[in-house]
Amino acid sequence: MKLLITGGAGFIGSNFIRHILKNYQEDSIINFDKLTYAGNLENLKEIESDKRYSFIKGDVTDVNAVKDACKGVDAVIHFAAESHVDRSIHSGHEFIHTNVFGTQVIIDVVHELKIPKMILISTDEVYGDIESPNKSKDGDAFKPSNPYSASKAGAESLAIAAHRTHEVPIMITRSTNNYGFYHFPEKLLPLFITNLLDNKKVPLYDGGTQIRDWLYVEDNCKAVDLVLRKGSIGEAYDIAPENDPEVTNGEITKMILAILNKGEDMIEPVEGLRPGHDQRYAVDSSKIRSLGWKPSVSLKQGLEQTIQWYQDNRVWWENVKTGDYQEYYKKHYGN
Ligand SMILES: NC(=O)c1ccc[n+]([C@@H]2O[C@H](COP(=O)([O-])OP(=O)(O)OC[C@H]3O[C@@H](n4cnc5c(N)ncnc54)[C@H](O)[C@@H]3O)[C@@H](O)[C@H]2O)c1
Repeated sequence: MKLLITGGAGFIGSNFIRHILKNYQEDSIINFDKLTYAGNLENLKEIESDKRYSFIKGDVTDVNAVKDACKGVDAVIHFAAESHVDRSIHSGHEFIHTNVFGTQVIIDVVHELKIPKMILISTDEVYGDIESPNKSKDGDAFKPSNPYSASKAGAESLAIAAHRTHEVPIMITRSTNNYGFYHFPEKLLPLFITNLLDNKKVPLYDGGTQIRDWLYVEDNCKAVDLVLRKGSIGEAYDIAPENDPEVTNGEITKMILAILNKGEDMIEPVEGLRPGHDQRYAVDSSKIRSLGWKPSVSLKQGLEQTIQWYQDNRVWWENVKTGDYQEYYKKHYGN
């Protein structure tokens, strides 16, 4: 298959590209990415000379550029997005432009060029807060709590409408929070791991009571790949390891501290930073499991592998933790 990946220079997109090139000799990939602050071609250094891979610097909101890039492809996997909740709270405009308008551009091009398949990469955050012990599942109403998740819910609504109205061949995946290699260190886990590797404290929001169902990025890539090859057009698949027991942000912080042999004095409590902070996300992953997917690692194994990767790849994250990132960090957390 010839695949067009949008946002392939980001965290999950770059892991997905590596996954495809490693596992499918006959597939080729066009990576279409604007290279925002979150896009980093260093993530793909080891495969950049692979003849099956090519890169186009482009914006998903630019119809002509998307149309040119999509000619002759068998599927579009649309990862590109503004993805950081905290940034969306500072300003939602870019989130609406890229995540909503940009998704409509991709849908229109898939429709016009009669591309056989499109996958929209969405998030469990569209469901909003869910009370324990309930789990959200496909078909439940969207109740997004912040501009990021609202923009993703908007993108999904457009995709669902395009399938219903024009039979555009779309599938959707909604995964829980990912973690793993090449994760931009503004997000909770890589921020904490890299701070601790530098012997700096970690800022933990609101007592760390929030519950997230952490998914190892390679397991998400395998799930998206399965949807690409075996999913049914028009379906949405919720992807979650369903970690049991559930872990709070405070508990996962302590797991990281334990792996790195650090004490709890490295936690810096930060109160009341995030308005609209959802307390708990939990989704029912039975639909993707019925296609044969299951997570390959436990949370502890995934964290150990991830921490080892950050220890071995200091140059990568030291280069990332500069410039725009430093500005943002100061604005959000102070000095
Ligand atoms: N990271 C998670 O835990 C998580 C969980 C569930 C869903 N998702 C979804 O998965 C997708 C990928 O997330 P991620 O964490 O890899 O994000 P990321 O921020 O690491 O990467 C986003 C990529 O999109 C590119 N991009 C942004 N705007 C663009 C535009 N206008 N045109 C072209 N490219 C553009 C960026 O340059 C970057 O390479 C997103 O759609 C996100 O909503 C992420």
